[in-house]
Amino acid sequence: MWAGFLITREQNERLTQVGRGTPAGELLRRYWQPVLAAAELTKDKPIKAIRRLGEDLVVFRTTNGHYGLVDERCPHRHASLAYGSVDDDGIRCPYHGWKYDTSGACIEQPAEPSASKLKDEVCHIAYPVKLLGGLLFAYMGPLPAPPLQRWDVLAWTHGKRWVQKHTLLNCNWLQTMENSVDPAHLYWLHGNTAHLAKAVKEYGEEHEFIQFDYGIMKRRITPSSGSGSSPKIDQHPLIFPNTLRHVLKDKKNGAIRHNVQCRVPVDDTHTQVYMVLFEPTESDETPAESITPLEYYALRNDDGSYRMDKVLGQDAMAWETQGAIMDRSAELLGVSDIGIVKYRKLLEEQIEAAKENSPLIGFVPTNREDQIIQFNCINERIGVSETSGTAPADQMIL
Ligand code: FES
Ligand SMILES: [Fe+2]
Repeated sequence: MWAGFLITREQNERLTQVGRGTPAGELLRRYWQPVLAAAELTKDKPIKAIRRLGEDLVVFRTTNGHYGLVDERCPHRHASLAYGSVDDDGIRCPYHGWKYDTSGACIEQPAEPSASKLKDEVCHIAYPVKLLGGLLFAYMGPLPAPPLQRWDVLAWTHGKRWVQKHTLLNCNWLQTMENSVDPAHLYWLHGNTAHLAKAVKEYGEEHEFIQFDYGIMKRRITPSSGSGSSPKIDQHPLIFPNTLRHVLKDKKNGAIRHNVQCRVPVDDTHTQVYMVLFEPTESDETPAESITPLEYYALRNDDGSYRMDKVLGQDAMAWETQGAIMDRSAELLGVSDIGIVKYRKLLEEQIEAAKENSPLIGFVPTNREDQIIQFNCINERIGVSETSGTAPADQMIL
């Protein structure tokens, strides 16, 4: 047991709660969060009601192609803007026709006298939105917003990119992230499906967790499986605070696919995963700011049971069966949980830094906001080594 890192109920709440004004909620709001796949908004349905970080919001696209994210309730008499309509510069409430632009300013009140100043008194909650890598990112923290991080998977252009939206998870976001610094589970939970276990007769790995500019790099060293073979390295980062960067090989065609798995808190007991996949190819071109194809990924079978033949279904089983909000005050950590301990410590430190308005991990200086952040992902078992190259050299900017 890691006696030095016992969690009390109060600490558990502090690390898990996502609402406005809560410690972790305020930290999460200082990072751009993907709130929707851009392809979820269409010409026919340009408005969607969502809940993110415990807030009920409406995301919309104007007919001019600008995105907005505002409080779902109209400030006038609180009807839902989700049933409203959009035009070239804003969203109109379905009840009395008040209209808001993407900054939340009220720009029309059709039933008020033309000389009325009531419009100027309206202060509607609105958050900035940016399209990147097929996702709509929103910034819900104190202004000014920091630059949006241009992760490699989101910003590479020479290849195919698409977004996967997973079944809504009925559990708190922290369970999904602690899993990302818990490499011991690969052999056991994914033993029948993942590439590693089949090639290894007996469990035996070394793990390292290295803090770096954007989070924690997780490194697994698997001993050689016999004479003539060498130990295999698998490393990929947890991008702080709530994303996993990963690389996999498609079983059918052998293509290497880089991905980010964004675990977006919906509220304290629900999490929405958006996964962006990028497959480098010679012939495809996908601009970073384009709307990419979207597919839905089911984590459960038709009868409600988890898809235990799929890695993502296995992880969902583990996360949800830990409880809606896992009671960490009753857990029993071992030496193999050191990655989880390190991540929680980083989370605590950054919660404090956010409170004090100090610089946070992962923030990009404004003079480097256009640069692509390239992560050094290695998985020697599937042929991705440090030198194998993952994208054209001109895109490898750090
Ligand atoms: S409630 Fe929205 S305009 Fe009246
Ligand atoms: Fe897993």
